[in-house]
Amino acid sequence: MGEIYVGRTEEFGERDRKIIAQGNMEIGVFCIEGEFFAYENNCVHQGGPACQGKIINKVEEVIHETEKTAHGLKFSETDVHIVCPWHGYEYNVRDGRHPGNKNIRLRPFKVDVKDGEVYVHI
Ligand code: FES
Repeated sequence: MGEIYVGRTEEFGERDRKIIAQGNMEIGVFCIEGEFFAYENNCVHQGGPACQGKIINKVEEVIHETEKTAHGLKFSETDVHIVCPWHGYEYNVRDGRHPGNKNIRLRPFKVDVKDGEVYVHI
């Protein structure tokens, strides 16, 4: 157990990420609205580099309130996803969980910010 220095907070813009290596493991560190999140760069599906995928807001279907009919798609205003580049599994960047099955999850790591420096605890 220990901590890995990732970088200074000002090196991260909104939705920036860094992939860091620890031995033969890679960890993706994400900055979303000033908060930091970290996950093993290892997709639950088939081990793809999930943390290197696109970062997009969750796509949601718009359902009419009374008719209950579909009215197209929109981007979520709150949920941000990482999309694994191999086959498209999506994970919520704030908890690492797949939106369709909360038991499917990227392995998370605790992130600390101390004096403007970002550390991941392993
Ligand atoms: S390995 Fe990530 S979606 Fe298949």
